Amino acid sequence: MTVLDRYAVVGNPVAHSLSPIIHDAFARQCGVTLEYSGILAPLDGFEACVAQFFGAGGCGLNVTVPFKEQAYLWVTERDPYASVAGAVNTIVRSTNGYLGCNTDGLGLLRDLRQNHGISLEGRRLLVLGAGGAVRGVLGPLLGANPAELVIANRTGARAEVLAERLEDPRLKVLALDALRPGYDVIVNGTSAGLEGERPAIAGELFGNAFVYDMVYGENSRPFLEEAAAHGAAGVSDGLGMLVEQAAEAFLLWFGMRPETLPVLAILRERG
Ligand code: ATR
Repeated sequence: MTVLDRYAVVGNPVAHSLSPIIHDAFARQCGVTLEYSGILAPLDGFEACVAQFFGAGGCGLNVTVPFKEQAYLWVTERDPYASVAGAVNTIVRSTNGYLGCNTDGLGLLRDLRQNHGISLEGRRLLVLGAGGAVRGVLGPLLGANPAELVIANRTGARAEVLAERLEDPRLKVLALDALRPGYDVIVNGTSAGLEGERPAIAGELFGNAFVYDMVYGENSRPFLEEAAAHGAAGVSDGLGMLVEQAAEAFLLWFGMRPETLPVLAILRERG
């Protein structure tokens, strides 16, 4: 019996993860044979799970909530995106150990640029939230040269801490109720949608902006429907970001960039 190269996503919960479907589709497309599974790690058992996976010959791992910060500490080297984020979503075996990478921000940028035709260069960008999801993407967003990047969070102090960490003159922090219209792109990086809620910002902010939610499917609806109702120039959930961050991980592991649009179409069809 042939033993396939093993890859996996580790998280808690993990059963809902689309990563196995996405990577299986990439592998078929690129003529790669692999086994990609989901690993449910106990909340206090991430390190043991990862050590066991690699000890048994595992080749590469994706890491999802709530372990990305622990993965950052576990790896032996980090790429610049992971270093800025303080979080790792992809682990690559390296000559001397384990390289921790973060492909979330690249995935978001690629979805915006390639799939939606949105360039951030010289644009005014508003990012809502200041948790792990936002911290993971700020570095690449700034790298895309927006004229201004405003972070607004329900708890202002968390946004201040993030901005201080990055020390970039284009980065500003505003309170949700101090925001005024004029943003070209608005990204919701809060987890409000997971509770069927949305960040409390004035509807007039959405007019003419391209509005993106980093979560996908049903959970993105409260925010995106509000945006569309207030005249947003376009709206998108984060399914494309999910597929694009996976493609970046696949590229790191196999040196091949898979086509993402056919895979995105398969996922949209599944509903
Ligand atoms: P994640 O890893 O998903 O980013 P997190 O680190 O817990 O999770 O951060 C959740 C983010 O969503 C925070 O910015 C949080 O705001 P607070 O810092 O004020 O808690 C934001 N958030 C969650 N529910 C929200 C809601 N109903 N309205 C506005 N923001 C919300």
